[in-house]
Amino acid sequence: MGSPGILGLLLLYLNVLISHSSAAQQQPLHSVIDAAPKRVAVIGAGAGGSFAAYELRKLADASNIPVNVTVFERASYIGGRSTTVNAFDDPAYPIELGASIFVEINENLMNASQALGLDIRGADHFRPKETEESIGIWDGSNFVFTMKNDSSWWNIGRLIWRYGLAPIRTQNLMKTVVGKFLKLYQEPLFPFRSLSEAAAEVDLLDVTASPGDAFLEANSISELFAREIIQASTRVNYGQNLPLIHGLESMVCMATDGAVSIPGGNWRIFDGVLQAAKADVRLNTSVTEIVKTNDGAVQISSKPTSDLDSTSPDESEFDEVIIAGPLQYSGISISPPLQHIPDDIPYVKLHVTLFASPHRISPEFFGLRDKNAHAPETILTTLPEGHNLGSNPKGVGPADFWSISTLRTISRFVEQEDGEQQREDHYVYKIFSPERPTAKFIAQVFGIEYSHGTSGSVTIAPDNTTIGDLPKGEISWFHEKVWHPYPLLYPRVTFEDTLLAPSIWYTSGIESFISTMETSALMGRNVAALMVRSWQREKDERNDSLTGKIEL
Ligand SMILES: Cc1cc2nc3c(=O)[nH]c(=O)nc-3n(C[C@H](O)[C@H](O)[C@H](O)COP(=O)(O)OP(=O)(O)OC[C@H]3O[C@@H](n4cnc5c(N)ncnc54)[C@H](O)[C@@H]3O)c2cc1C
Ligand SMILES: *[C@@H]1O[C@H](CO)[C@@H](O)[C@H](O)[C@H]1NC(C)=O
Ligand SMILES: *[C@@H]1O[C@H](CO)[C@@H](O)[C@H](O)[C@H]1NC(C)=O
Ligand SMILES: *[C@@H]1O[C@H](CO)[C@@H](O)[C@H](O)[C@H]1NC(C)=O
Ligand SMILES: *[C@@H]1O[C@H](CO)[C@@H](O)[C@H](O)[C@H]1NC(C)=O
Ligand SMILES: *[C@@H]1O[C@H](CO)[C@@H](O)[C@H](O)[C@H]1NC(C)=O
Ligand SMILES: *[C@@H]1O[C@H](CO)[C@@H](O)[C@H](O)[C@H]1NC(C)=O
Repeated sequence: MGSPGILGLLLLYLNVLISHSSAAQQQPLHSVIDAAPKRVAVIGAGAGGSFAAYELRKLADASNIPVNVTVFERASYIGGRSTTVNAFDDPAYPIELGASIFVEINENLMNASQALGLDIRGADHFRPKETEESIGIWDGSNFVFTMKNDSSWWNIGRLIWRYGLAPIRTQNLMKTVVGKFLKLYQEPLFPFRSLSEAAAEVDLLDVTASPGDAFLEANSISELFAREIIQASTRVNYGQNLPLIHGLESMVCMATDGAVSIPGGNWRIFDGVLQAAKADVRLNTSVTEIVKTNDGAVQISSKPTSDLDSTSPDESEFDEVIIAGPLQYSGISISPPLQHIPDDIPYVKLHVTLFASPHRISPEFFGLRDKNAHAPETILTTLPEGHNLGSNPKGVGPADFWSISTLRTISRFVEQEDGEQQREDHYVYKIFSPERPTAKFIAQVFGIEYSHGTSGSVTIAPDNTTIGDLPKGEISWFHEKVWHPYPLLYPRVTFEDTLLAPSIWYTSGIESFISTMETSALMGRNVAALMVRSWQREKDERNDSLTGKIEL
């Protein structure tokens, strides 16, 4: 059972020469020589890490390079910022707590979903669609625009009526920008070592260099349309206003046609690709340290997440490591220290409040005089005219929240006073806000009687009551979460490289460019492709020297 030795190797070689067609002659020799699998550690089981593992498996198998992929994930679940919680703790009602939508042009997510046989549904599949108006854009005192539930031509007519050619110009501009971006998916640009250079090649640096408002103005898109429609979208998608967020991400916000999601949770894509990758996934395991050893290997120290103070980390050696999440939040130390450490960049702080209630959004709160009127099921926000907060990251303005969406209804059996069970429809809502919503705020928005708290105007902060202080009959279930969901996307023209040091790869540089599940997945595939290319080169070199030896 020892190693085959030179003779054994030659015999094996002869065997395969006999049993294989001439085209594949040399390959089996290599499988033998390279038999020790490439050991890759992936840190993070989100979109980036899971797609890195998926692509490694595909490419390594295709080029006959054995690979062993270990995925370390400090959380107890796969998906990272893409994850669900169950309404009423009932697995029948998973609700997205993080990333909720992707779009048809997101080929990495679409293709993988199809390959995995996952169902892909319209993102508002479950929305009750009970109101005349589906979306309202609120500026803190008025709806500046509302979208009718049904007739899209009627909406288009109203858009043109109010905004003239701006919607069409925006659509065309978005298509041009997206077209440039999609070149990054293909050869000769893919895979790219430097995102800064690749972005320059597809002519997108002008777009990332200017804030959204300046970029739109330069493209003759009216301030009114930019503020009322495009900014409503940058606020719900990224929690920032147009004078802050760069032109590219602003355009991404207008490319949400055909928004879809995976029933049960988008994380199922990442779970599926990790299985397809045959990766060894270690949940509840935090990587604490990466050490480059003298022989060029990478030593990874990890600890159970529940016991980070333990003094004896688990150590294992790898050939390559991929850091697939923002380094600044990873708690990983790297030694010897990196020559260039990725900048800490400011991230948005977002409160996500999910809850269920028999109440509907209060038409009164939103100034609708007709008591029988319904507030739109989705309420987006923008700043009122003349209220310019510039690039201030605290940009929510008078509305106080980014968005309120009605996600679905759930039928509940609720016990009445007489002990009878009665069926009741409860709505499930999602609020995005920069501060934790107070009980008073929620009570007012949903027309709930609530006596506690002070009088005065409604603000989310600073009083310290929370949704949990409201009666159980009014709020039948809730879940609160604070995220660092995406960076503040200030204009910039350079992005972190994919290789931080030899054998230490990084995916999260792309978040300053475009921050979505798809782009993280793209970057995961990108570093995997670069890695396999480098192995291929290594293999070719080895083959060259080996062929030389055999000829001698
Ligand atoms: C509320 C919210 C809404 C969003 N909406 C959308 C949307 O609609 N559409 C969209 O496309 N995107 C959306 N996003 C953004 C999207 O979620 C992210 O861009 C994407 O999921 C990032 O994937 P990632 O793999 O790069 O990072 P992550 O998903 O953050 O994955 C990184 C993983 O690494 C793990 N990790 C970190 N450090 C360590 C360590 N030391 N050891 C072990 N594991 C570690 C983390 O636990 C995490 O699981 C949203 C995000 C949030 C939070
Ligand atoms: C190995 O090298 C030889 C000579 O350079 C070349 O003809 C052959 O295609 C290579 N084989 C592989 C599997 O790369
Ligand atoms: C893959 O690597 C891990 C971590 O080093 C190791 O525990 C496992 O045994 C390896 N699997 C195979 C099939 O080599
Ligand atoms: C991870 O930890 C959680 C508790 O935090 C536990 O419920 C779960 O079973 C653990 N999962 C694994 C795979 O160890
Ligand atoms: C997705 O699938 C289509 C059709 O097979 C293919 O043309 C495209 O290149 C794929 N895209 C990616 C990113 O895999
Ligand atoms: C809204 O439109 C959907 C179809 O898109 C329809 O099923 C629903 O009944 C409409 N609701 C109202 C209130 O018009
Ligand atoms: C809220 O603040 C008040 C006074 O500032 C304090 O007495 C009270 O305990 C706080 N309540 C909670 C739930 O933190």
